[in-house]
Amino acid sequence: MTEPILKIGSLELDSPVILAPMCGVCDVPYIKLMRRYDQESLAFHEMFSAVGLLNWGRRKDNAPAFRIPEEVKPLGLQLFGHDPDAMGKAARILADAGAAVIDLNLGCPVPKITKGCDGSALLKDTSLLREILKSMIRAVPERPVTIKMRLGWDDDHRNHVEVAKIAEDAGVAAITVHGRTRSQMYSGSADWEAIAEVVQAVSVPVIGNGDLYDPITAVNRLKESGCKGVMFGRGAQGNPWIISRTAHYFKTGELLPEPSDVERLQVALDHCKLLIAEKGEKTGVPECRKHVAWYTKGIHASAELRHRVNQTQTREALVEVITSCIETLSGSPALA
Ligand SMILES: Cc1cc2nc3c(=O)[nH]c(=O)nc-3n(C[C@H](O)[C@H](O)[C@H](O)COP(=O)(O)O)c2cc1C
Repeated sequence: MTEPILKIGSLELDSPVILAPMCGVCDVPYIKLMRRYDQESLAFHEMFSAVGLLNWGRRKDNAPAFRIPEEVKPLGLQLFGHDPDAMGKAARILADAGAAVIDLNLGCPVPKITKGCDGSALLKDTSLLREILKSMIRAVPERPVTIKMRLGWDDDHRNHVEVAKIAEDAGVAAITVHGRTRSQMYSGSADWEAIAEVVQAVSVPVIGNGDLYDPITAVNRLKESGCKGVMFGRGAQGNPWIISRTAHYFKTGELLPEPSDVERLQVALDHCKLLIAEKGEKTGVPECRKHVAWYTKGIHASAELRHRVNQTQTREALVEVITSCIETLSGSPALA
């Protein structure tokens, strides 16, 4: 690599595009699929609880809480929690697991998380935030620590510039900004002007996030805001191609075609197989349903396919339903 396109501390990336952490979506099976198309962009795994990681460490069998398969790297791992000491220890566990970046969650809006002063609740307690960041950075001096924040708790408390400056001062290597407040949850639209205000206020790279669903919009947002990177969340659901297509468009100006309906279904099938292999039939089959719904949005007869998928209880039945749909669409036997 000559000049990296995005530099996050010591991590050099040849792509400005990042897969967002998303609970229930960005697990190892999904990221393995994304890596078929893109090996350069940073991907984030769904968040980890600091307390959960520390409790895991008390098990007698010494099994690691998480091990990153080589083929999904570079992988960023994200923590939520609020106790500085626990956050430092948990950051160390994630660094030892092979995280390329360790991120602090300052965005999660759900009451289960915020009532314990985790996630976006930390936007309201900037002195605690500073302590947490210092503890994490001290614990993993060799690895970049980053934050992923919202614009503030609500419209009356938009403190994105203040939070970003505190984080920069504490020593974070990059800042991701989701252009919504906590009280917006996912409603309204992301405020990219506010994201650009953070770009103006700090010298570390800023990664913009919110409402990106196609390569052209993403690259335009990147350029207009001055961000060094862009992050896809919901736009990557059922769409592991979006990261590579956007990175390619950024580098060449060429827009690669969308995958065909048959390719979408074939990848949905592979995704289901990977997910069930990883999590087992009982957990895996129900989890597959939402992924199939995302992959098949807009394709011919997708409502009927989704209905049939939702009735399945076993791997065999699920594979059979998707395979027969591929055969109907393509007119030839599927690679089951
Ligand atoms: C299902 C789901 C799960 C999410 N889980 C996380 C998470 O674990 N950590 C995090 O920082 N953000 C999480 N987010 C927020 C996304 O990373 C992202 O910031 C948000 O969806 C806005 O980006 P988008 O408009 O591209 O979706 C989640 C979002 C969704 C929809």
